[in-house]
Amino acid sequence: MSRRPIHLAAHFPGVNNTTVWADPDAGSQIEFDSFVHLARTAERGLFDFLFLAEGLRLREHRGRIYDLDVVGRPDTFTVLAALAAVTDRIGLTGTINTTFNEPFEVARQFATLDHLSRGRAGWNIVTSSDAFTGANFRRGGFLDHGDRYARAEEFLAVARKFWDSWAPGAVRADVDHGVYVDPERIGSIEYSGTHFDVRGFAALPAGPQGHPVLLQAGDSPTGRAFAARHADAVFTLHASLQEGQRYYADMKGRARSYGRDPHRLKVFPAATVVIADTAAEAQDKAWHIRRQQVSGATAIAMLEQVWGRDLSGYDPDGPLPDVDPVADGAISQGRVRHADPVALARRYRELAEADNLSIRELVIAVTSRQQFAGTAAHIADEMDRYVQADACDGFILVPHLTPRGLDEFVDRVVPLLQERGAFRAEYAGTTLREHLGLGA
Ligand SMILES: Cc1cc2nc3c(=O)[nH]c(=O)nc-3n(C[C@H](O)[C@H](O)[C@H](O)COP(=O)(O)O)c2cc1C
Repeated sequence: MSRRPIHLAAHFPGVNNTTVWADPDAGSQIEFDSFVHLARTAERGLFDFLFLAEGLRLREHRGRIYDLDVVGRPDTFTVLAALAAVTDRIGLTGTINTTFNEPFEVARQFATLDHLSRGRAGWNIVTSSDAFTGANFRRGGFLDHGDRYARAEEFLAVARKFWDSWAPGAVRADVDHGVYVDPERIGSIEYSGTHFDVRGFAALPAGPQGHPVLLQAGDSPTGRAFAARHADAVFTLHASLQEGQRYYADMKGRARSYGRDPHRLKVFPAATVVIADTAAEAQDKAWHIRRQQVSGATAIAMLEQVWGRDLSGYDPDGPLPDVDPVADGAISQGRVRHADPVALARRYRELAEADNLSIRELVIAVTSRQQFAGTAAHIADEMDRYVQADACDGFILVPHLTPRGLDEFVDRVVPLLQERGAFRAEYAGTTLREHLGLGA
């Protein structure tokens, strides 16, 4: 069997505790220069796409804005449109939810981005969270989990109608009149469902890709089914070899069950990388980064999310709390909820007792994200191994530094991947769909 190529993408290091803000090399997560540097570095490394996450409401913890990570992020479409002007090949992918938006707007925005970037637009479809996010909007929280996916289905169906509604030849170049439009070739949209009742016309023809590349992030069975039916790629946190293999087999099997070619659904786990000259140095560096990512205050806050109660009186360098968690204690807002906090707290206690870990050490251990740490050659070997072993089709790299966190990877690991024929030596196509090996 032929060797499968590795696909690479770059996650802009934004509002999360992977990003180390205390490092003197850390830059702004708001200023455009940061986005430009990361996008151009990823493009220099011949990555498939740059990826922006989304959060529509500042996270809160114990009733205040959570400020242990840096707070705030600019608007996705504006950033991606600006990046389209300063990059040539790299795909530009944004996370946009289907819960608090409207299909007409989003279809128009992605079609515009696809035109501006000449076929490089990608949409990471999420359903987002709940009433907490919704409170920032006119409608407030209005849909439970299942209905958010039902809305996402309809949302995508309507968006597709908009993208498909201008027939080929609707826009014609005419020597006498410049560019003109043939109204006969612009189809009307009609859609009537539970969540949308839409009648009208798309504001512009679809971009060069026809539809933007569709990604999905969401791990529930409903989320996986949605991705298996519709997505060109999935973003997942199932990142270890074994977990990745299980997830990969599940997603490819689901795609097959919907009559799709499983190769047309690409699996991208998040990955972090620590490069050094020796394995021992890389382990030291990784440990140092983990301690920067999880300060004492962050460790307490993360434990509070599980315990559902105020643990500020505990010493992060001391043992775990002796009190029990509150099963429904919503101390944190705007984050993914833990399904069974009581069971999780029990597991944390067992782990801490077995290895005599402090609160901070435990949180570092259970949230550890240094997936690839070692020499550049070791990292290249490992990434290739994961792809050849059907754990994934590639990686969305989440650097710990803004905006220079990918420089070393592109300088040191990419050439090694190229040497072993695991990664492209140049972009073969111009569109994101082509980079992903999904046709023109
Ligand atoms: C790897 C991953 C990344 C995600 N990134 C975002 C994001 O940037 N913004 C967002 O609103 N939701 C994000 N989500 C959550 C989605 O909103 C998801 O649609 C929601 O959690 C409901 O999906 P689920 O219950 O199927 O996981 C992410 C989920 C996963 C698994």
